[in-house]
Amino acid sequence: MAVIGIMSAMHEELAAVLAAMPDEQRVTVAGRDFWVGHWQGHAVVAVLSRIGKVAAATTATALIERFGVGQIVFTGVAGGLGPGVKVGDVVLARSLVQHDMDASPLFPRHEVPLYGRSRFETDTGLSDSLQRAVQAVLADVQQHVGPEAVTEFALQSVRLHEGLIASGDRFVSSTAECRYLQQALPEALAVEMEGAAVAQVCADYGLPFAALRTISDRADDDAHADFSRFIRAVASRYSVAMLSQWLKSL
Ligand code: ADE
Repeated sequence: MAVIGIMSAMHEELAAVLAAMPDEQRVTVAGRDFWVGHWQGHAVVAVLSRIGKVAAATTATALIERFGVGQIVFTGVAGGLGPGVKVGDVVLARSLVQHDMDASPLFPRHEVPLYGRSRFETDTGLSDSLQRAVQAVLADVQQHVGPEAVTEFALQSVRLHEGLIASGDRFVSSTAECRYLQQALPEALAVEMEGAAVAQVCADYGLPFAALRTISDRADDDAHADFSRFIRAVASRYSVAMLSQWLKSL
């Protein structure tokens, strides 16, 4: 099987991934540490995506050009936008859009100039196999995060959502901006800062791409509350459990 690129949005997630890799070797390219090794018997390269569309696109390009990965899976957190997309839920991207792309009136709003489209689809086979792993983990959240985190973050009835993720170079942390995005992109389930850029790079190279995001906030006036604690106690544990389960299933 082709080498698998794993892009983690957060240090805590990457640390947990590295703890599961028995033989990782660090290779530094473009100021980024790429970790080359194996996980569940599969050849993987794990890397911190960095934050924002340009940084993540550069990381993805290096993964492809310098490390020859044949597919990329992205994990991280996102703000919930869609109705019923709540903290602790997981969103599996089926397509991604840059919510801050606007070259109008030269091109329709959100369309990426010269691509003739605004949405970039994820790979169906890759996403379907991840979906099964996510469902298995969400069926027993307590096993992965412990009973205290389940109570603290009200994780009693977490759900998997699938659909559109919106990316842009803004941490959305006001109810007004959240409403604006909900109106501009009514189908968007979640907002984050990298996914659509990596999807575009993978489309350029013809590589399968999938993206998973744990909802850490509702992209509103409370978006910053307990962010670090949530990432440590919940999101990074979900990510590792889901990726590990997925790799085992391959
Ligand atoms: N990642 C996690 N929460 C986010 C938010 N509210 N806006 C942008 N990116 C995020």
